[in-house]
Amino acid sequence: MQNISPLQIERLKYSAKLPKILSKGLKAIELTENSPTTAISDVDALKGLFSETFGQPNLSVKEGTEKPQSEAYKVGVVLSGGPASGGHNVILGLFDALKNLNPNNQLLGFKKGPGGIVDNDILEITPEIADNYRNTGGFDIIMSGRTKIESPEQFKACLDNCNSLGLKALLVIGGDDSNTNAALLAEYFKANGSSTQVVGAPKTIDGDLKNDQIEASFGFDTACKTYSELVGNIARDAISSVKYYHFIKLMGRSASHIALEVGLQTQANLTLIGEEVEANQQTLKQLVAQIADVVIERSKLGKDYGVILIPEGIVEFIPEVGRLISNLNDKMAEKETEFNALSTQDEQIAYVITLLDAADSDLFKSLPNNIQLQLIAERDPHGNVQVSLIETEKLLSAMVGEYLDSLKESGSYKGKFAVHHHFFGYEGRCAAPSNFDADYAYGLGTVACVLIDQGKTGYISCLKELHLPAEQWVPMGIPLTSMMNMEKRHGKDKPVIKKALVELDGAPYKTYTKYRATWAKEDAYIFPGPIQYFGPTEVADVKTISLNLEKTAK
Ligand code: FBP
Repeated sequence: MQNISPLQIERLKYSAKLPKILSKGLKAIELTENSPTTAISDVDALKGLFSETFGQPNLSVKEGTEKPQSEAYKVGVVLSGGPASGGHNVILGLFDALKNLNPNNQLLGFKKGPGGIVDNDILEITPEIADNYRNTGGFDIIMSGRTKIESPEQFKACLDNCNSLGLKALLVIGGDDSNTNAALLAEYFKANGSSTQVVGAPKTIDGDLKNDQIEASFGFDTACKTYSELVGNIARDAISSVKYYHFIKLMGRSASHIALEVGLQTQANLTLIGEEVEANQQTLKQLVAQIADVVIERSKLGKDYGVILIPEGIVEFIPEVGRLISNLNDKMAEKETEFNALSTQDEQIAYVITLLDAADSDLFKSLPNNIQLQLIAERDPHGNVQVSLIETEKLLSAMVGEYLDSLKESGSYKGKFAVHHHFFGYEGRCAAPSNFDADYAYGLGTVACVLIDQGKTGYISCLKELHLPAEQWVPMGIPLTSMMNMEKRHGKDKPVIKKALVELDGAPYKTYTKYRATWAKEDAYIFPGPIQYFGPTEVADVKTISLNLEKTAK
C-alpha cells in the first residue's frame, strides 16, 4: 500500500512561481534603500526601545551585476504560533535560495517554535528532507510552538545558542506577536554585539498581520478556501434538506477577516463581523435579535433553514462580554495561585464571581455553565482567553432559540428552528497550500534569503502587488519597527506590531453590506468547491475576494 496519495505526488513536483526578478537566481540581486521609516505611533518610545534598529529604510530589490560566490554560512529558521498553509514553502524558498548562493550554505530548523531557540533543539534541513515537504500543508517539518521569548534569561539563551551555532541569521516565521518577538531579538542581538541578523516572514490564517506594506499573510488564502468549500457544501445541504439552520463558527482569534472572506465567497445568509458589533456597541441581546430577525424574515418566506457565520473572536467585540473577558484576564492573572489551588470547577466559578464587579458578575452568572467554564479555562502564553475554546455558536443559537420561543408564545413567530453547530478552524490551517499560498510563501522565503545575504536585520520579508500574477509581484524588505506602536499588555505599555482588524470603510466590508439584505432573504449561495491545484489559471490561481477588492476597488 502506497503511503502517499497521487495528489501529494503531483504537489511535490509543483514549481512555485517566483517574481520575475528573483527567478534567475540571487547572485545578481541588489537592494536599494528608500527613505527612512518611522512607526505607526509612539515614535519616541519606540526610538528609545529600538535604538539600534529603529528608522531603517524600506528596501527595494533590483537587478545588479553578478557577484562571485560568497563564503558559506549557516542560517536558522523557526515556525512560530498556529500552523498556516505555506509554512513549509517559506523554509524551502529560503533553503533553495541559500543553496543557489552557495551549495555549502546550511539551514538549521529550531524545533517546536521559539522554545527550540531557547533550548537549542535543532534539525538540519537536508535536500532529502526538503524534497519531502515541497508544497505540503502543515508545520511538521520542524513543528511549531507558542513560547513567548520575554524573560532576560530566554533572550540570553537565544543569543548564546545563535552565537555558538555561528548563525549568520535567524528567520522567524510568524504572526504579529511572533514578528514583534523577531524585532525584539534583532534589537537585542545587535545591542549585545552579536552578528546574527533576525528577519521575519508574515504568517497567520487570521489575516491580521496586514498593513500599508504587507498585503496579506500566508495561510489566509488556503484556510478561507477550505472553509468556503465546507460552508458551500453545508449551504447546499440546507437547501436540499430544507429543515436546518447551521451556526458555523470560523477561526480568527481576534479579527473577523476569515468570516468576512468566507461570507463573500459563499454568500451565506448572515455573516457577523466583530468589528461592526464593537463599532455599534451592540449588546449580546441586540446581536441575538439581529440573528433572530433573519430567521423570522426567512420563515415568513417559507424558509426555516439557513447558514449563519460567526467569527471566533466576536465574543471580545461584544462590549459587555469583551469587558468581562478583559477583567477576567486581569483578575485571573492576579489571583492565579489562589485560583489554581481550587479543586473543583464549581469552586472555581464561585471564586471567580467574587472577583468581579456587579455588572460583570451579573453577566457571568447569566451564561450557561459550559460557557462559564470556557471563559475561565487556561490562558494562552500571552495571557489571553483562548477564544477557539468558547462555543459562541452554541451560546448564540441557544439564545436565539429562547428569543424565538418567547415570540411563539405571543404568536408573532410560527416557524421551526432546528440547529446544527460547526466550528471550522483546525480543518483549514494545514491543508495543502493553494497555488497562491505555495507561490507566496516560497517567494517570502526567497526574499528573506536576499535580506539575510545582504546583511539586513530587523526586517520582514515582503511581496507586494499580490493581486497580479506571481511573476509581477514586487519584492521588498520592510523594517519591523515601522509596523509597531505601544499597547497595554497586562497593565504595562509594550511595543507591538499593530494587528489589522476589519476596516469598516474598507472595500471587503462595504461589499458585504451592499449585498447583506439580499443574501439574508434569498438563497444566493455560492458553492466554491475544493481548492483546485491544477487547471486553468482562473480557477487554480484565483486569489481571495478580500485581496482583490482591497487592491482594486476605488
Ligand atoms: P496565529 O495567530 O499564531 O497564526 O494562530 C491563529 C489561530 O489559528 C487562531 O485563529 C486561533 O484562535 C488560534 O490560532 C488557536 O490556537 P491554538 O493553535 O493554540 O489552538
